[in-house]
Amino acid sequence: MIEVKNITKKYVNGDNETQALRGVSFTIKDGEFVAIMGPSGSGKSTLMHILGALDTPTSGTYHLDKHDVSKLSDDELADIRRNRIGFVFQSFNLLPRATALRNVMLPLIYAEMPEKERMKHAKAALESAGLDEDRYNHMSNQLSGGQVQRVAIARALVNNPALILADEPTGNLDSHTGDIVLGTFQRLNKEHQRTIILITHEREVAEHADRIIYIKDGLILEDGSGHERRIINDGKRKSGK
Ligand SMILES: Nc1ncnc2c1ncn2[C@@H]1O[C@H](COP(=O)(O)OP(=O)(O)O)[C@@H](O)[C@H]1O
Ligand SMILES: [Mg+2]
Repeated sequence: MIEVKNITKKYVNGDNETQALRGVSFTIKDGEFVAIMGPSGSGKSTLMHILGALDTPTSGTYHLDKHDVSKLSDDELADIRRNRIGFVFQSFNLLPRATALRNVMLPLIYAEMPEKERMKHAKAALESAGLDEDRYNHMSNQLSGGQVQRVAIARALVNNPALILADEPTGNLDSHTGDIVLGTFQRLNKEHQRTIILITHEREVAEHADRIIYIKDGLILEDGSGHERRIINDGKRKSGK
């Protein structure tokens, strides 16, 4: 369902150029749970923005369910984001003065769905994400970090996206709460067959996924898990870059 071929990304600010991705290729099948792991500055967020249709690559192609996302207009990208991708960020981006339920209903505004229907979908998503029902009407600033992240996961699920993209989703959580959130992703993958891409700089976090794509300096060095791990690059930068 996801096919990334030889993607590069160069940022240009005045005279300053940064080659954030240097030719990245992989495919991810429906129902996989993949971690993209690498140190700070390795290009993870850049890759996530491209996979999330928030940005386009400088060169290379990205297909999501037969759509060539690398060639779409801004309007078409917005449509892909709205209908096919659920985002979970490190900084949860919830509305603090709105209830958990309202926060999860929000993405459905675009779906032109009656309020009752939106509420039904939001409750189902909150249940999948594992938030206790007695928290649904709490303001998000009255919830714990772990509960807030469950709301954020529910919000990512609510429009039934093909793909869930999570960028450092446990970055602001203590390790116990982080484990619970990672368990939620595992359950969504195993029981609900959700395709999940988890971005992290921590190996312990990445190991919750079934496959780890290891990225450094904008290149994939390793892909796979355990004995099926493949070395893709030796990590040496090509000269002149
Ligand atoms: N908008 C931008 N403009 C210029 N350089 C950027 C921009 N975003 C990221 N970079 C640079 O690209 C490289 C990769 O960054 P990023 O994708 O954020 O890495 P990571 O998420 O792995 O920490 C870094 O050198 C970073 O400074
Ligand atoms: Mg990042």
